[in-house]
Amino acid sequence: MNVSVVGSGYVGTTIAGVFAEWGHDVVAVDIDSARVTALNAGEVPIEEPGLQALITAHIGERLAATDEIDAVAAGECTVITVPTPTADDGAVDTTAVETAVGDIGSALQDGADDHLVILKSTVPPRTVERVVPHRLERALGEHLGDRVHLAVNPEFQAQGTAVDDFRDPQKLVFGATDPWAFETLDRLYGAVIDSERAVVRTDPPTAAMIKYANNVFLASKLSVVNELANICKVHGIDGYAVMDAVGMDDRIGARFMRSGAGWGGSCFPKDTDAMIQEAEEAGYDAALLRAVREQNDRQPMRLIELLEGHLQVEEATVTVCGAAFKPGTDDIRGTRSRPLLTALEHRTAALRLTDPSGAIRLADEFDHVQAVSETAAALAGADAAIVMTAWPQYSRLGEHVEGMRRPIVIDGRRVVEPTPAMVYEGLTW
Ligand SMILES: NC(=O)c1ccc[n+]([C@@H]2O[C@H](COP(=O)([O-])OP(=O)(O)OC[C@H]3O[C@@H](n4cnc5c(N)ncnc54)[C@H](O)[C@@H]3O)[C@@H](O)[C@H]2O)c1
Repeated sequence: MNVSVVGSGYVGTTIAGVFAEWGHDVVAVDIDSARVTALNAGEVPIEEPGLQALITAHIGERLAATDEIDAVAAGECTVITVPTPTADDGAVDTTAVETAVGDIGSALQDGADDHLVILKSTVPPRTVERVVPHRLERALGEHLGDRVHLAVNPEFQAQGTAVDDFRDPQKLVFGATDPWAFETLDRLYGAVIDSERAVVRTDPPTAAMIKYANNVFLASKLSVVNELANICKVHGIDGYAVMDAVGMDDRIGARFMRSGAGWGGSCFPKDTDAMIQEAEEAGYDAALLRAVREQNDRQPMRLIELLEGHLQVEEATVTVCGAAFKPGTDDIRGTRSRPLLTALEHRTAALRLTDPSGAIRLADEFDHVQAVSETAAALAGADAAIVMTAWPQYSRLGEHVEGMRRPIVIDGRRVVEPTPAMVYEGLTW
């Protein structure tokens, strides 16, 4: 199939590469011409395991990048993967989706063949129902379903494992209203549709809601785990021992049971905010989801409370270890290190940030946070380290504590292997 992917970010680049691997001819469209040039040169501006090799294998062959939106007209379907960030009021900013839909509609105006526009960006059900179809119809100048069709196909890949997740998805969700749209989605995903694969076929708003429910459920599970593990800690009980045992109940499940400094990333915070906002606009008070969010806002502050039990924060040089929202990515969207640094910036004598990835750029957002790439240098002369990202290399933090003025290590991710030379305290154990 000839496929266009509009938006070459984390999701777009991954799926464009995998679609090419599956044998489709893929055009990746982005408004960022520097990104387009880099992709055509085989450079991936994103840290994601396996993505560079995937792009290297297919760029210039089955995969090409362009900033010309008109390129979508040559294909049979167009997948939209542009961002849907949070606006100032907590609602979803759907500007990029609306712009992309309008541009795609204009580009498809004079076409003769059927075309499927597939919305993969995470967009609220009401926008899917009320805004996107009208935008598309207005730009096309014709009714949807006559020649151009619309489907919603949310994405469940997780950063750090995105390529493998997309190659072997646990489920596919297809939201459409006509048989040709479903049949086209079947062909697009033909490489992974078999009798074992769960394929949910539903209407577009339900497909959109499944994505939100999925993310908000996972975020809520983590907030509950963190709350229970905090309570374990105040009773002197190891929260990990408790949650490991709880996870043995298959009604609960063993995954997403690791307590820590809170959940972040580009999706969980914004999708939880969006659900709260959308519910409130529809007259429903999502009190539980607000509590989930508030728990997550409080969680990094627990680390400061623990630190205060060991030293006078005002007199200390503190090193925050980890800026990425999780290991395996350089993404700092929604990272819990941001509120921690904000709370510490004007309190500590000196504040440093270290991270083994490009995520260290988080320090640029602060006036009084010093970025130090090397862990040893970041810890030299420090009074305390707070571990915020579970980078595997932080398991060996003990190798560097000799250089610290005081070897206090507060671990927010249970990644450090404590050594006798360390004053070690875990967040929830
Ligand atoms: N990041 C994830 O792991 C993940 C997982 C599942 C779903 N999602 C959803 O997928 C969507 C994309 O997320 P992302 O993390 O890949 O975003 P991103 O910010 O990494 O990338 C978006 C890309 O879209 C481009 N873009 C913006 N407007 C455009 C336009 N009008 N035309 C063409 N290109 C345009 C940007 O230049 C950028 O390269 C979001 O709705 C997100 O919620 C993300």
